[in-house]
Amino acid sequence: MVQAYISGTGFYVPPRVVTNDDLIHTYGVETTNEWIVQRTGIEARRFADEGVGTSDMAVKAARDALVAAQLEPHDLDLIVVATLSPEHAFPGSGVFLQQKLGLCDGESAKFVPALDVRNQCSGFLYALSTAVAHVRAGMARHVLVCGAETHSAALDLSTDGRTVSSLFGDGAGAVIVSASDRDDRGVRGVYLGADGRFAEVLCQKIWDIRKRPFIPKNPDRSGTVAPEMLWATMDGKLVFKHAVGTMLGALMRACTAHKIGVEDIDLFLFHQANMRINQFIAQQLHVPDEKIPHNIQRYGNTTAATIPIAYDECRRAGRIKPGNLVCFFGLGAGFHWGAALLRE
Ligand code: UT7
Repeated sequence: MVQAYISGTGFYVPPRVVTNDDLIHTYGVETTNEWIVQRTGIEARRFADEGVGTSDMAVKAARDALVAAQLEPHDLDLIVVATLSPEHAFPGSGVFLQQKLGLCDGESAKFVPALDVRNQCSGFLYALSTAVAHVRAGMARHVLVCGAETHSAALDLSTDGRTVSSLFGDGAGAVIVSASDRDDRGVRGVYLGADGRFAEVLCQKIWDIRKRPFIPKNPDRSGTVAPEMLWATMDGKLVFKHAVGTMLGALMRACTAHKIGVEDIDLFLFHQANMRINQFIAQQLHVPDEKIPHNIQRYGNTTAATIPIAYDECRRAGRIKPGNLVCFFGLGAGFHWGAALLRE
């Protein structure tokens, strides 16, 4: 059977570092470094400058992943982009990324399919499962999977919005999922779930398509979006509670399916939403700290990008060796969640 393995990885974060103190001094948010660090572990995040969008960051991560895989953009058969912050309402970021990779240019243009995945913090895991299924089914040999977010453009950087806006940062991570006939490596399985009863616990509505028109229209044909529709809202405590139980459940499901114990996993790459969530899960699992790298301190929560960024950092730092068993897992808005097991 054809196996799907990760042949290359890359990531990009914008150069502008925004510390917790910068939220106070530059944006006027009433908060403290201590509050944010104690509750979340976040010390800083990156914000992209005006003019930079999701596919601009995704293309940098994608190019690095292609180089690592020793591939050219024209080797790709499919592009999957996971994001909750596409450039526009439609089309998605996938086609912008396709253009920026040069796939639409000249006589050698290759109009590969481009798919957007809208599953927020679990978006990378949903995108990965799509890529793996395409490769295993023989529909693609090389699939580019990007998780990329431009949160800074859509955060309520005021005291009213601080519960959400102090958590998020910008960035992109990419992996190339490739076909292989070697049975001893590759993605062993991706285990996804969702619970729509919590769809409005963490959301950013912007419009209501049941209304006519979907955004209240002014006499001059412009629209007005009320603050409660414009900004993301979250019941943080409820998300926290579900994140712990559900992520543990997804991990156990993956372990049971492969008849392995938690101790057989060499590296855990958690979604980086809150250091306390991850530390709590680590305690429950009795996993040594060195098996659970974090980068939330430096980047905050980059939603669909957290796992591929952390994965690329670990690969480049030599923390992942051939034969290692790596586990990705996370939960986010929807709720959507997932766990994936990979043999390097
Ligand atoms: O990736 C998506 C998934 N998201 C998550 O996994 C997030 C999960 N939840 C969390 O990480 C935590 O719930 C938060 C970090 C978001 C919040 O921590 P909390 O301990 O649950 O605090 P809280 O929301 O209950 O807020 C407690 C207080 C409130 O003040 P009052 O109403 O008690 O006076 C907030 O207004 O803390 C206040 N607060 C802040 N204070 C200073 C909220 N944000 C801030 C802030 N600085 N940045």
